[in-house]
Amino acid sequence: MDYFNYKKKTLFAEDVDINELASKYGTPLYVYSKRTFLEHFRKIKSAFSDMDALICYSIKANSNGAILKEMAKEGSGFDIVSGGELYRALRSGVDPKKIVYAGVGKTAEEIKYAIKSGILMFNIESQEELHSINNVAKSMKRKVDVAIRINPDVDALTHAYVNTGKKESKFGIDINLAMGIYKSAQKLKHINIKGVDMHIGSQITTPIPYLNAVGKMAQFVSQLLCQGVGIEYLNIGGGLGIIYNEEKPATADIFAKAIKPHLAGFNLKLILEPGRFIIGNAGALITRITYNKKGRLKNFLIVDAGMNDLIRPALYSSYHKIIPVNIKNGSKLEVCDIVGPICESADFLGKDRHLPQMDNGELLCVRSAGAYGMAMASNYNSRPRAAEVMVDGGRHYLIRERETYEDLVSREK
Ligand code: LLP
Repeated sequence: MDYFNYKKKTLFAEDVDINELASKYGTPLYVYSKRTFLEHFRKIKSAFSDMDALICYSIKANSNGAILKEMAKEGSGFDIVSGGELYRALRSGVDPKKIVYAGVGKTAEEIKYAIKSGILMFNIESQEELHSINNVAKSMKRKVDVAIRINPDVDALTHAYVNTGKKESKFGIDINLAMGIYKSAQKLKHINIKGVDMHIGSQITTPIPYLNAVGKMAQFVSQLLCQGVGIEYLNIGGGLGIIYNEEKPATADIFAKAIKPHLAGFNLKLILEPGRFIIGNAGALITRITYNKKGRLKNFLIVDAGMNDLIRPALYSSYHKIIPVNIKNGSKLEVCDIVGPICESADFLGKDRHLPQMDNGELLCVRSAGAYGMAMASNYNSRPRAAEVMVDGGRHYLIRERETYEDLVSREK
């Protein structure tokens, strides 16, 4: 469900004509629908409402300050993975006691910043990190709350690059070694064990891997309790998939119904870290056709957005629907590749797509680009990054200015 729909023959974001946004703010342009991401947040919140779950939106999916501010207002917490994300989270006005901090490479400096900020807890990913946190906490004369991220060795049945819960992955601590780490954590003076954490991957469309992992975690929590290790929180991570094309992902309700029986009987507070589920379909990338190039084997629509704006097709062969902003009646469908201006063959947004014949200057909309779109954008080929706009009903707000050429060199000496 989202709010990018045609009214007559024109694509709208909520009640705003996309043509109007493109003329006012230029292209390439990221457009977000506030109603869409708030509804997605509410869906997941209500699916777990009987467990009073804390939803920590995963900032890495889209970290624009205006979006974070709206999410914080709505009651969301945040999942962070760096000092930069902590900075953004705090700026949003969120209660620091709703921030959880994951990531395999937290530096001493980042740990100090997080302790000073009073976050809810760290999700620890190695024995080495556990000691590093203990040492930093000691130097600050503090005791800090932690969960340990368990690697349950479950295949999330998703793209290899976003499959994070298999034993060969760098993430978390092997479930067979985890008890030892909890025992050693118990002995550390500046560590307070609070929880158990997992995150098995991203764009997971079936609840089965989730269920396997949660089942293993539940068993592990029972063992912890038997061994006298008290646990208050269970964090089951993010990863709920969305519809890009023909996927049929389980809904938040189905995920919740499947998971809850495993958790019955443990008096645990639940934490979730959804990113894509909330913001993925709430964003679109609007791009203008520069040239319609007819090749001998292929037709190319060369557009003004490239892999520096949206790297997902190049990096994961991801599919994003691409649709015209204005529908023309009677024009034949043509098979074409939609490509950017960057000097790489990986610079494509879509391949072999059937689109009506399009002219130079016409607009296309790349759907489902809210998550890991702008967040992964770069300046490759010295391209200033795109502007971002938030739509709220009939109103629209520039939430990030387009970069300028001066911005490209502003830090250079
Ligand atoms: N929690 C942790 C610890 C994570 O590492 C992630 C994502 C999430 C939560 C949120 O996952 P989500 O609900 O958004 O699936 N760039 C890739 C996705 C990378 C995901 C990294 N971790 C893509 O564009 O598909």
